[in-house]
Amino acid sequence: MTYARILGTGSFLPGDPVTNHDLVARGIHTSDEWVVERTGIRARHFAAPGQAASDLAVEASVRAIHAAGLSPQDIDLIVLATSTPDYVFPSTATLLQHKLGIKNGGAAFDIQAVCSGFTYALAIAEKFIRSGSHKRALVVGAEVFSRILDWNDRTTCVLFGDGAGAVVLGASEEPGLLATAIHADGSYNSILSVPGTVSGGQVIGSPFIQMDGQAVFKFAVRVLSEVAHEVLDAGGVAPADLDWLVPHQANIRIIQSTAKKMHLPMEKVVTTVAGHGNTSAASVPLALDTAVRDGRIQRGQTVLMEGVGGGFTWAGALLKF
Ligand code: UT7
Repeated sequence: MTYARILGTGSFLPGDPVTNHDLVARGIHTSDEWVVERTGIRARHFAAPGQAASDLAVEASVRAIHAAGLSPQDIDLIVLATSTPDYVFPSTATLLQHKLGIKNGGAAFDIQAVCSGFTYALAIAEKFIRSGSHKRALVVGAEVFSRILDWNDRTTCVLFGDGAGAVVLGASEEPGLLATAIHADGSYNSILSVPGTVSGGQVIGSPFIQMDGQAVFKFAVRVLSEVAHEVLDAGGVAPADLDWLVPHQANIRIIQSTAKKMHLPMEKVVTTVAGHGNTSAASVPLALDTAVRDGRIQRGQTVLMEGVGGGFTWAGALLKF
């Protein structure tokens, strides 16, 4: 049986960390105590003016391709998840392809599933690899959420940051991805959205994040534990045999509640939210790459990644690393 296997990981955070104290100094009516207690976030990173999602994506991608022992020309599929693309079109994936110097005519496209975008992208790319239609897929989550934050709304602006993460997937006879699941329920679209668009040269609606935090919290904990059990069942893995949970890094309390529902000790959960806040589609690959590079996640271990985000969308992926 042919599996899609992760051959290499990479990630990138722009600039210096911006702490909660820095936000207070910039005039945001909040406090380090409030943000740490409610979210676990201590700092986030912001892209420089003129630095777009594709610029962050290229840094993460170069690191992932290098870790896989490949060159950019080996990549024949790019699936990039973002809600903060460089342009209306062309896709950020094609801009990334160009910036990587890939000229082999491979496929490149964006997918939009907000914070579950990377896990969606992984599930999509897996199907291309297993079908044999493509050999080496670059799967990326890249975001510049700082561009859609309303600095007058303290209930959202302290939560998000910018960043990118990437993996290279390739065909292997050794087990890789064991099970994936992707879901959506559009009836929850209004609890987390950026309800604006561009028309006739103007922004119509709002260009900023709007969120019902408590509704999002409850929804997230429910579907994250559901989708975790779904992929564990499909992959034939008992929860106790899981080595690592790599969840969407939105809020430490959501992560702790999900782990508790799964009877999983926090020692088996990768958490990086303190250092970069919620980077939406970038958060899962950022956490994965961090734990791979610091030696926590080892080859052969069983890893569950999962995300939840606007739409609402949610997704899970179980794999042997
Ligand atoms: O990818 C998914 C992305 N979304 C999320 O992960 C968000 C999920 N939701 C949450 O994490 C939480 O709902 C929040 C962290 C957003 C908010 O925590 P909460 O415990 O639900 O707080 P709350 O909205 O009930 O607000 C409590 C108080 C309010 O003051 P009063 O009315 O009690 O006087 C807010 O005005 O906290 C106040 N508050 C703040 N205070 C200091 C709200 N934001 C802030 C802030 N700094 N940044």
